[in-house]
Amino acid sequence: MSDLVYLGGTIVPRRSAAVSIDDRGFLFGDAVYEVLRVVRGRFIEAERHLRRLARSLHEVSIPDPGLDLLAVSADLLRRNGLGNAEATVYVQVSRGAAVRQHAFPPPGTAPTVLVTVSAFSQRSELLTSGATAITLPDFRWSRCDIKSVNLLPNVLAAQRAAEAGAFEAILLRDGVVTEATRSNVLVVVGGVVRTHPTGPFILPGVTREVVLELAGEAGVVVREEAVGSDDLYAADEVFLTGTTADVMPVVKIDGRPVGAGRPGPMARRLGALLAERIGVGAPGS
Ligand code: PDD
Repeated sequence: MSDLVYLGGTIVPRRSAAVSIDDRGFLFGDAVYEVLRVVRGRFIEAERHLRRLARSLHEVSIPDPGLDLLAVSADLLRRNGLGNAEATVYVQVSRGAAVRQHAFPPPGTAPTVLVTVSAFSQRSELLTSGATAITLPDFRWSRCDIKSVNLLPNVLAAQRAAEAGAFEAILLRDGVVTEATRSNVLVVVGGVVRTHPTGPFILPGVTREVVLELAGEAGVVVREEAVGSDDLYAADEVFLTGTTADVMPVVKIDGRPVGAGRPGPMARRLGALLAERIGVGAPGS
């Protein structure tokens, strides 16, 4: 964990960074966030992340703090000795601190902006061997497209996965695969890559979008069409996409092997294309 963080306009040591007990992020989860990947000082897909943050803010009517987040992040990375490293940047914007009432605070209440940076290492071994997952009911709300810090259902599902020794929990809403607790889910059925369409039930993942574009450019047939649990278990391949998960093959779901029980050619191919695009080593290379 880094020593210096950005909070409310200043850079302060992590141990002395404190948020008001009246902050609506703390009281109501009234906040949105982003996680960006940085490779040797280069922000990966920065525009897409900033666009999604602006959209999340707009959707919940938190005023855009109007901050140059990339400049703040670059400064923070440098000051923490991560200017030339692999890292992640966490950005959170809450509706600010005010007397507790559910409806919005008075106009002019300043949003609270937090930026932290952390060293990051790719999960190379897991990317090569493949990960395991469990399935769980998706009992989240109907605005999963907003990257809100209201992550209690994700936290509970991730904990169930951890207790089962699995990397992720794949979520099913009305029998249909939506996404996972911190990644999107893509499935290969008959050579076609299928994934839940964007809309209210999934986060429009930046990595998902990029991987679908790379697949399309490589001539792979992609269908933004959800799969049910039967298709999931019978799929040739299943993989996850995310800023920190990259293209993570899933080789076992609920104890049953996926396809041949090892990472498949589509995950390897798309993983290599993504690695090339972001400038990191391909899994297994
Ligand atoms: N999670 N779905 C959910 C619910 C997520 O939280 C995330 C990202 C994704 C993948 O999105 P992207 O490709 O833009 O990272 C999908 C971040 C990394 C997190 O909460 O730490």
